[in-house]
Amino acid sequence: MRVNALFNDFGKIIELSSQEYLSVNTNRFKEIFNNHGVLLIRGTKVDRDLFEKFTGHFSSDFIVHSAKVRKRLSKDQTVQTVTEGYGPIVLHSEMAYSPFSPEVIWFYCETPAPVGGETTVGDGVQFYRKLSPRAQKLLMSQKLKYVNIWAPDRWLTHFPSESPDEVIQKMTQLGTQAHWINSETLYFEYLRSGITKSARGLAFANGISIHRQYEKEVNTFQESHDKQVRHGIFLENGDKIPEWLCNELTEIEEKVTQKVSWQNSDIVMIDNLTVLHGRCAFDPALQRSILLRMANWPKAA
Ligand SMILES: [Fe+2]
Repeated sequence: MRVNALFNDFGKIIELSSQEYLSVNTNRFKEIFNNHGVLLIRGTKVDRDLFEKFTGHFSSDFIVHSAKVRKRLSKDQTVQTVTEGYGPIVLHSEMAYSPFSPEVIWFYCETPAPVGGETTVGDGVQFYRKLSPRAQKLLMSQKLKYVNIWAPDRWLTHFPSESPDEVIQKMTQLGTQAHWINSETLYFEYLRSGITKSARGLAFANGISIHRQYEKEVNTFQESHDKQVRHGIFLENGDKIPEWLCNELTEIEEKVTQKVSWQNSDIVMIDNLTVLHGRCAFDPALQRSILLRMANWPKAA
């Protein structure tokens, strides 16, 4: 295992031998990961099967992304395609709007776009440090309130055999306030801090900016026939996210964004609690295939 800097200020590149993909030293790996937030793993030709085996060393608690636009490719459904389309996607923490948000995500590059299409990452710890005292104070004093309206395809992914009452019960146990709008549609509110406490320090990790993008481009994130606005974000007290904060976030995003220039077979491992990710645009005529797997760490016995 060879370890080198990925960016000037955070992340590492890990070079592995082909044998090391099959027998990962997960303790050493996790130590580097916890200290650096994002790892780019290179070294051998990786196919879907090896991607599944490699990620399987770290956890068995994988999470299916329930958005219908993400195809499920592996037998267990947890190796999936990323958000469709070719436009840019702003920095975000994956699924911060729901209790199904993963602690760790892996991207695997099957086919890089020849030009553009880089995955972007931004260190949430640096992001937090760049926030104005006013923004830090607001985000430390109020959680964010994510509002979701889920069609059956989404809630059935998480609750395939539960009765309607059991779904509400489980969503309540997961910390949401949930009710049925009708027999098909689940409404829930989820409160979560926009700031994470981590070993690396306080980190800005949430979905404020991507919710703003979602409101403008619903079709990027949903099937084209589904025009309903299904996600909203507010401050804990119900106020809209202030305009001054959104503007400040856009400015900081520009400063902290780093690009991962994909090579075929690359795997990128991201701490979803302290590192944000997004995407650069690419020409729709170009081929690009990036796959995703998401997990929580195994629970301590
Ligand atoms: Fe994402």
